[in-house]
Amino acid sequence: MNVSNQKLVTPLEKPLKGIIKVPADKSISHRAAIFSAITKEKITVSNFSCGADCKSTLAVLKQLGVEVNFQSERNLAICNKEGFREPQEILYAGNSGTTIRLMSGILAGSNFSSVITGDESLKKRPMARIITPLKQMGADIKAEYDDTKAPISIKGTKLNGIVYNSQVASAQVKSCILLAGLNAEGETVIREPFKSRDHTEKLLSYMEADIEVQDTRVKIRKSELCPKPMSIPGDISSAAFFIVAASIIPDSEIIIRDVGLNPTRTGIIDIMRDMGADITILDKREECSEEIGDIKVKYAELKGVTIGRDLIPRIIDELPIIAIAATQAKGTTIVKEAEELRHKESDRIKAVCMELKKLGADIEEADDGFVIFGKTQLRGNCVLETYHDHRIAMSGYVAALASLKPVKINEFQWVNISFPEFIEVFESLQK
Ligand code: S3P
Repeated sequence: MNVSNQKLVTPLEKPLKGIIKVPADKSISHRAAIFSAITKEKITVSNFSCGADCKSTLAVLKQLGVEVNFQSERNLAICNKEGFREPQEILYAGNSGTTIRLMSGILAGSNFSSVITGDESLKKRPMARIITPLKQMGADIKAEYDDTKAPISIKGTKLNGIVYNSQVASAQVKSCILLAGLNAEGETVIREPFKSRDHTEKLLSYMEADIEVQDTRVKIRKSELCPKPMSIPGDISSAAFFIVAASIIPDSEIIIRDVGLNPTRTGIIDIMRDMGADITILDKREECSEEIGDIKVKYAELKGVTIGRDLIPRIIDELPIIAIAATQAKGTTIVKEAEELRHKESDRIKAVCMELKKLGADIEEADDGFVIFGKTQLRGNCVLETYHDHRIAMSGYVAALASLKPVKINEFQWVNISFPEFIEVFESLQK
């Protein structure tokens, strides 16, 4: 079910109860599709993300000649027998930063020319962070507007390995360089200031690439990938909305099944526990080199916390929903050194502060984060904006559930980027 336009959300009168599943992990789905296409063999991917972002990756792969066949709604077969071929038209990555940045790493080392772009939100996001290292590898690549913003024009050429010290802890930057390195002469090494999500490293190892990981340093050499079937766990970034909702709505008790628990992504669990949340992990196991398990959450009294630089990469997508939890926590929550949030699908620092103020929260904006003074009874009775940003839309919905009066959310269809069944799943917990 795809949701559209303005959504009226009425405050919850009952606790959230039940067992749910969330969509497949968006980050891993992108990688599964792209890495399958590199192998030139047919690979089946089960439980692929149903969100628009991963469809953007599939669309770009199709433009490059890759065959994508859905065997059922969530299971697909990817086959690129002939190898990537020059696209006839501009490649369109939609709203997806992961698509444009990872694909640029592949296109840079191809034997054809291409242009890749995206929607209005994506065209505002920084691309120098991938263009600079790719140029150092020998890439012939150029972006419009000061060489920093999409569209990006790429003339494929032979690449050479580099040693690159990234200024940002970004999995998209790291993955772009690693994918370029997979096809470059010599050794490519990337170091980041803090470890970002490591799905690329895990999946490339699973596919037997020549890759070594040592803390925040990853080394890759030119290698062939071994075709293997893949199965994608549930997305912890989608589960985060339910973890917070069940923690702040009195008497709630839920279980979220089959969620990816990669330690580079579980910052939301650690922080919510620090805030006093009642979270238990059940049935932990491993699939395709990724940890997975069920998450049980019960309502609990929360308290404020301080969140700084070292934790940010592990919760980069969860900070908007953590802000909602903070409004319902006793004491002060400080989010600092999180300037990366200004470069996401929207400026998430600004968006969180603007929208939470409308709801009646006590929040102050800082250059690199925000400070929230809790606990506040959110008033509601307002119209929220979503800023072309799925996570801002879903965070607004959870805040509205905990408000006194109904809330309208404009352009709620942005949830389709990662979680088209968001409302349906929430409603299944309200019976
Ligand atoms: C992602 C990495 C993160 C994250 C994004 C998905 C990925 O971005 O915010 O939603 O799949 O690699 P950065 O790498 O820019 O931090």
